Amino acid sequence: MAPNEKGPVQLSIEQKVTEDMEPSFLEVVNESHLHAHHAAMKGVTNKETHFKLTVVSEKFQGKTLMQRHRMIYGLLGDELQQGLHALTLKTKTQTSKLSFPFLYFYNMVNIGIVGVGLVGSELLVQLKATGAKRLNVVGMTTSKKMVVSNTSYTSLDLTQWKTDLQEQGVEANLGVFAKYLSDSPDHSIIVDCTASDAVAELYPSWLQLGLSVVTPNKKGFSGPLSLYRSIESLAGNLNGTGKAPFAYYESTVGAGLPVLNTLADLVRTGDKVEKIEGIFSGTLSFLFNNFSSLSGENKGTFSENVKVAKELGYTEPDPRDDLNGMDVARKVTICGRLAGVDLDLTTLPVENIVPGPLQSVASADEFMAKLPEFDDHFAKLNEEAKKENQVLRCVGLVDVKGGQSGVKLLRYPGSHPFASLQGSDNIIKFTTEYFPNGLIIQGAGAGSAVTSFGIFSDILKIQGRVE
Ligand SMILES: NC(=O)c1ccc[n+]([C@@H]2O[C@H](COP(=O)([O-])OP(=O)(O)OC[C@H]3O[C@@H](n4cnc5c(N)ncnc54)[C@H](OP(=O)(O)O)[C@@H]3O)[C@@H](O)[C@H]2O)c1
Repeated sequence: MAPNEKGPVQLSIEQKVTEDMEPSFLEVVNESHLHAHHAAMKGVTNKETHFKLTVVSEKFQGKTLMQRHRMIYGLLGDELQQGLHALTLKTKTQTSKLSFPFLYFYNMVNIGIVGVGLVGSELLVQLKATGAKRLNVVGMTTSKKMVVSNTSYTSLDLTQWKTDLQEQGVEANLGVFAKYLSDSPDHSIIVDCTASDAVAELYPSWLQLGLSVVTPNKKGFSGPLSLYRSIESLAGNLNGTGKAPFAYYESTVGAGLPVLNTLADLVRTGDKVEKIEGIFSGTLSFLFNNFSSLSGENKGTFSENVKVAKELGYTEPDPRDDLNGMDVARKVTICGRLAGVDLDLTTLPVENIVPGPLQSVASADEFMAKLPEFDDHFAKLNEEAKKENQVLRCVGLVDVKGGQSGVKLLRYPGSHPFASLQGSDNIIKFTTEYFPNGLIIQGAGAGSAVTSFGIFSDILKIQGRVE
């Protein structure tokens, strides 16, 4: 029997207790290895002698502890005769299970990670560091190679996953990957840590298999409205699988900041969202916080600030991918749709602040070389704002009432919270009926640690919801 594989005695215990006790929760753990050195076990080669059982069943209602234990022992007479030595029992009813430690009753959940780059590998670090209870990473894949665990869905070894993926990985196949996860009796989550459109298009098929989806990938929620609608309608439904899947995507906006969760709560509780306004890009935040401030301190020209941001790794390899506003537009689209506005990326007004002549130059290097030629243009905008005691900020807007949604370079007075933002922080302000003066969420909105934190939180939310 391979380590962690279920043997015939364990399978028999699970079957008998399930059939007779109809438990709402059952966990059978083989602890034989912990007793192998005991004198009574000397010479015993059987690997199924000691088990810990946790059983939650309404059939225990009104029974004493002794009676409950007799009920379980009574079911396992054959196994006890054939070498089963001892059972450690926890026997509870549904109503008493709340007295268990908080996480104890969280359901076993499998995790399959698609994409183990910056964010995916940081998520693995966080899962390992916290020893996340009852969360098993049973599969991971890149675009080239994948590994999955065994048919008992034992967690992969998170101390050496890179070597295992490299040396034992087989050719990546997302169809096989999803089928493996959906065959598990426990709930499975696919965590998409890619930026791929093709992967996002698979979400509906995964949800149909009963698999939940957690992702920082914006494509599925800001792309075609039909894909978004399909994900929306499949998430939370049984889809004939008996396992209601969920779709959580908090880290697509503001990384780990609780932006979408807060917005969803506002909508679900009947608040009327009027406007969502924010600095949604860490890169543009850093750029304009430095370039346009009222402190009087000269922090350099526009092109010098772009260069610093690029050198610090804040920009995409080609900074035009930040300056063109499309990343912010995707976040605006995601927030708008959640607030009930059917925004479409292809028609959303987006101000591209890349100077016209530089939009079509061939390479990032050429763009960087020519950008100083346009410093006067940005300096003029900045000076005009400063004269009015204002700063420039690149913002995303969802205007639920007025239809003015889009991405714009706007001016804000020095007293406005957007004007005093620091570093590469994001800030998002909801104006609603309940919060007429605004509800503001602010903090680090980029980086693998906070993004993975958002993903991890989503995983825990699903773990708490699965039946
Ligand atoms: N980094 C941040 O601060 C941040 C913040 C918020 C959101 N995000 C989002 O998080 C996601 C991941 O970002 P990242 O920085 O971790 O990217 P990354 O370092 O480039 O990693 C991407 C991973 O996805 C894999 N991949 C790509 N296409 C795939 C496919 N078709 N099938 C399977 N695997 C595929 C890549 O594998 P190969 O190496 O084989 O191509 C790689 O392992 C993106 O959507 C990004 O926008 C990132």
